Amino acid sequence: MVRRLASGTTLVLASHNRGKLAEIEALVQPFGITVISAGALGLAEPEEDAPDFAGNARLKAFAAARAGGLPALADDSGFCVAALAGAPGIHSARWAGRERDFPDAMARVEREIGGNPDRRAWFISALALAWPDGHAETFVGRVDGTAVWPPRGTNGFGYDPMFQPLGYALTFGEMTPEQKRPLTHRARAFALLAAACLD
Ligand code: IMP
Repeated sequence: MVRRLASGTTLVLASHNRGKLAEIEALVQPFGITVISAGALGLAEPEEDAPDFAGNARLKAFAAARAGGLPALADDSGFCVAALAGAPGIHSARWAGRERDFPDAMARVEREIGGNPDRRAWFISALALAWPDGHAETFVGRVDGTAVWPPRGTNGFGYDPMFQPLGYALTFGEMTPEQKRPLTHRARAFALLAAACLD
């Protein structure tokens, strides 16, 4: 049975990525849930060694739920390119290296696409809500679009400047946070989570 999260609960956000934290906080806020970040609790980041987004999201959520003794929400997400068979995918953060150099990661995507005319790209987000007793609920969202070059815009984070969602003239990097948030893979996964688990 799907487990719900009661309004008034404190939830650990198991992410150390500021861009993601801001987006998840905005999504959770209307539901009367108090959030605290894994960073604020001093929780370590686990090794993300699952083979897919959902597995990595669960791994991060369980690590935070068990260490914090509270329900925890984690996102595992990434940028996927059709011409690269879905890469960088679950390796999206790793392509930016330890320095988190996203201009460099975007340049690598463009280099590897080469002359391929297939510019289809998408973002995936898996959200896992986990409890310290070992129960978890997982939801996946996706937004489709085009990998553009050169990158455009300085808003957002990660691969936002090279992603133009279908039906829009702006990249995520050119959109304001208010424009981007409802369109995202994360918002779509969260809508499923809210319908199933939140009051
Ligand atoms: P994770 O922390 O392992 O889930 O890393 C996800 C990576 O995917 C991030 O570091 C970003 O590079 C990328 N990513 C995920 N969501 C977005 C987004 O909304 N915009 C841009 N990049 C994203």
